[in-house]
Amino acid sequence: MRRIGLGLLAFILGASLVAADIDMEVKIVEKLQHFSEYRFPANNHEDSWIEARNYVEKEFDFYGLRVQKQTFNSTVWTLEGDQTVEGVNIIGVAQATSNKPGAIVVVGANYDTNTRENPGPLFNNGAGIAALLETARLFTHNIKWSGSFKQNYTTIFVAFDLNTKEHDNEPGKSGGWYFVNEWLWDYLESSDANFGGAFVVDSIMNVNQEPNSQDTSEDFRRMFPETYNSMAKNSNKGNFIGVVTQPDEKSQKLKDQFVGNYRKDRRKRPFRLEDMTLPTVLHKNNIISELTTQETVEFWAFQVNGTATPLPAVLISDTEKLRSMPESPCGTRVCPPKAWLTEEREEFLVATVEGLTNTLLRRQATRLPNPPANSSEATSLPSLFTTVVILLIGRFYQ
Ligand SMILES: *[C@@H]1O[C@H](CO)[C@@H](O)[C@H](O)[C@H]1NC(C)=O
Ligand SMILES: *[C@@H]1O[C@H](CO)[C@@H](O)[C@H](O)[C@H]1NC(C)=O
Ligand SMILES: *[C@@H]1O[C@H](CO)[C@@H](O)[C@H](O)[C@H]1NC(C)=O
Ligand SMILES: *[C@@H]1O[C@H](CO)[C@@H](O)[C@H](O)[C@H]1NC(C)=O
Repeated sequence: MRRIGLGLLAFILGASLVAADIDMEVKIVEKLQHFSEYRFPANNHEDSWIEARNYVEKEFDFYGLRVQKQTFNSTVWTLEGDQTVEGVNIIGVAQATSNKPGAIVVVGANYDTNTRENPGPLFNNGAGIAALLETARLFTHNIKWSGSFKQNYTTIFVAFDLNTKEHDNEPGKSGGWYFVNEWLWDYLESSDANFGGAFVVDSIMNVNQEPNSQDTSEDFRRMFPETYNSMAKNSNKGNFIGVVTQPDEKSQKLKDQFVGNYRKDRRKRPFRLEDMTLPTVLHKNNIISELTTQETVEFWAFQVNGTATPLPAVLISDTEKLRSMPESPCGTRVCPPKAWLTEEREEFLVATVEGLTNTLLRRQATRLPNPPANSSEATSLPSLFTTVVILLIGRFYQ
C-alpha cells in the first residue's frame, strides 16, 4: 500500500516537475548588453554593427532555428555622403511540417541603429532586438526541448538590418522592404493565404511616468480617440505599450491574441497596453509619419505588380518620438547603458516578451497533456531522477 502511495506521489511530483519546466523566465539583461553601442555601417560604428549581426546569427542557430542570411544592397547617408552598403537580414525559421490558412507568423525587429543621440542605441532598437531574441529562445525551448509543447505552425524570427526609414537624408530601401518583397513573398509562394501576420517590435523600453510626456495633438485625438481619453485620465503619461494595427480581420485577430496574452496574468503593473487600431481612412499627418518609420509599414504597404496587397502586421512600440525621452540618470555625463535600465523599464520589457512568447506558444503550438515517461529528452530527466530518488526513499520505510 505504502509503495503504491509513494509511487503515485513520485509520479505526481515527476509530472509536476516537467510541467514546471515550461520556461518563462525572461533573461533580457544579458541580451541587452550586446546592443548598447551604435550599430551603423559607417562613422566608426561598423564593428559593433557587425558584432550585433554575428551575435543574432549565433543565437538563432543555438536555439535550433534554421538560419538564413538575406543580403541586399542599400544606400545610407554617412559623414562622407551617400554610400552603398550591403545589409544582411538574419532569418531564423521554426519550420512546421504543414500549415493551414492564416497559420504562419513572423516576429521581427531591427538590429541596426541610426546615428542620432536620441533615444540612442539601447532604446532604439536594442530593447526590441533583445526582446526578439528572448522570445525566440523561450519559444524554441518550450517547443523543442521542454517536452511541454509541440509546434504546429511555422514561426519565423527575423532581425532586420538597415531601417533606412529612420536614417537621415534620402536613404535607400530598408531591410524590412527586402525581407517582405524579396524573401517572405517567395516563401509564402506568392499568396497571403497561409500568412497570419507579423509582429514588429520597435522601441519598447521608454516607459515614462512624467505627466504630459505623451503626444496629445489633435491629430492623435482624431486617430486614436480611446487611447487619447485613457491618456487624459492618466495625466498624459507615456506609461503604456502601444499596439498599432490596420483594421482588417487578420491583423485584428493577431492583435487580440497578443493583447489577451499580455493581460493574461492580470498583475497590477505601473503601465498598461493601449490598442491603437488605425482608422480605415488615413490622412497624412505627423502621427502617421512617426508610426510608419518602423518595418511594419513594409507589410502594410506591400504591393504585387503595383497592386496594393496589404499584409497583416502589428507594431508593438512605446510610440518613439510621440513620447518624450526620460531624463538622463547621469546628468550631463555620458551614461553607461546599465544606468538606463531601471527596474521599471526592465519590467516593461519583460511584459512584452512574456506577452509575445505566450501568444506564440498558444497560437503556433499545442500544450502536451503529459510528457512521455521514458522520453530521452534531456529536460525530462529531472522528473525521472526525482521518481527514482523517491522510490529509493520508499525502500527505507519497508
Ligand atoms: C552589392 O554590391 C556589391 C558591389 O557592387 C556586389 O559585389 C554585391 O554582389 C552586391 N550584393 C547584392 C546582394 O546584390
Ligand atoms: C498540433 O500538433 C499536435 C501534436 O502533433 C496535434 O496533436 C494537434 O492535433 C495539432 N493541432 C492542430 C490544431 O493541428
Ligand atoms: C506579376 O508580374 C509578373 C511578370 O510580369 C508575372 O509573371 C506575374 O504573374 C504577375 N503576378 C501577378 C500576381 O499578377
Ligand atoms: C519508450 O521507449 C521505447 C523504447 O525506447 C519506445 O519504443 C516507446 O515508444 C517509448 N514510449 C514513449 C511513450 O515514449
